[in-house]
Amino acid sequence: MNAAKSIVLIGMMGAGKSSVGRCLQQRTGLARLDTDEMVVAQFGVPIAQIFEKHGEERFRIAETDVLRKLAPERPAIVVTGGGIVGNTENLDLLKRLGTVVWVTADEATLFERASRRNDRPLLQKENPRAVFSKLFRERESLYAAAADLRVDTSALTHDEVAETILNRLEEVTALQQ
Ligand code: S3P
Repeated sequence: MNAAKSIVLIGMMGAGKSSVGRCLQQRTGLARLDTDEMVVAQFGVPIAQIFEKHGEERFRIAETDVLRKLAPERPAIVVTGGGIVGNTENLDLLKRLGTVVWVTADEATLFERASRRNDRPLLQKENPRAVFSKLFRERESLYAAAADLRVDTSALTHDEVAETILNRLEEVTALQQ
């Protein structure tokens, strides 16, 4: 992999991006960069509080800002928040970083996983299932447009997803040679 070829994980809340990112980090020894963690570090409070105090729009500005400044010297594992595909500038920024992998599952599985924790401000609503469904529908085509690879995680452990990603990347690299 050359310096630009990081592995960039995108996908809905509940897809397992953070956990898969950790597995990829362990398997490859590459550094892991997480845009949510970077935004949180900037504000000094958790995401729920950023949304509450400053609003979603401010979070989105910070998210794009973090992405603009991401320029790892070596390939890295880049983990992103589920809404990162909502801004078209972000799509180019993601592609510039390396191979974009869409981590996904069927909608019901994603929602069930995403609801296990109550720290996702977008789901702290009266009807979180409907909110999730709307986001899922709005974002499907954006993830598809941004991604080089799509991995269905419904029946896989996080580590199996990481293994699948690395195998698929090897296949792609072999085809390019
Ligand atoms: C969001 C997903 C979250 C986080 C924020 C907004 C979204 O990240 O960025 O709560 O819009 O889907 P995860 O995908 O890691 O939950």
